[in-house]
Amino acid sequence: MCPGSMMLLLRCLCAFMLLLSVSGGKLPEAEVQIEVMHRPFLCHRKTKYGDMLLVHHEVYFENGTMLHASRNDGDKQPMWVTLGIRQVIVGWDKGLQNMCAGEKRKLIVPPELAYGKDGKGKIPPESTLTYIIEVLEIRNGPRSHESFQEMDLNDDWRLSKNEVKEYLRKEFERHGYPPNDTLHENMMEDIFEKEDKNKDGFISAREFTYKHDEL
Ligand SMILES: *[C@@H]1O[C@H](CO)[C@@H](O)[C@H](O)[C@H]1NC(C)=O
Ligand SMILES: *[C@@H]1O[C@H](CO)[C@@H](O)[C@H](O)[C@H]1NC(C)=O
Repeated sequence: MCPGSMMLLLRCLCAFMLLLSVSGGKLPEAEVQIEVMHRPFLCHRKTKYGDMLLVHHEVYFENGTMLHASRNDGDKQPMWVTLGIRQVIVGWDKGLQNMCAGEKRKLIVPPELAYGKDGKGKIPPESTLTYIIEVLEIRNGPRSHESFQEMDLNDDWRLSKNEVKEYLRKEFERHGYPPNDTLHENMMEDIFEKEDKNKDGFISAREFTYKHDEL
């Protein structure tokens, strides 16, 4: 501790506050710990954002107790997930990239990238979860994630009317047509009519990816 005089006390306080501001300034970003348990010899393509993956998975709590295993529970079927659209926890979106069909990984996912401080169902708040995930099959998503990202100018995972209009304008230009505001406006309204399922004025990543006809 700091010795007596007022001056010293102040100095101690200062040092203490400096320490606080340094350590509190930037928390390390939460990361998924990835361990490749099996990688097949042949790998024709690797998973990327926007792909659909057929997976079997097991989930374990930190104490080692198993919460769920898709091979044993429910209909025992693997499930399709689309990568990168937050259909699943962020830990999966981050941890299942660059995988081959037939690959098996262990993911240790901190709560920030799983169910956070609220938890969910049997998962208590602030749980670190361990997943064993096996990718059985990889397919192209119905729409590429790249084109969504290209349109989503402010990276908020949803397309505003302006972003769609801007995209139309650029596409017209790219194909050598003069821009036409009236036309873009009409096309944009038409697109939102069809794609903005919940009518909130935005096309979410999920609304976008699950549609089958092209813009
Ligand atoms: C392990 O942790 C989970 C979640 O906290 C709990 O439900 C379960 O009872 C625990 N198992 C054991 C054996 O302590
Ligand atoms: C712009 O589009 C509207 C609606 O399709 C059309 O009526 C109009 O002629 C177009 N204007 C130009 C300059 O091409």
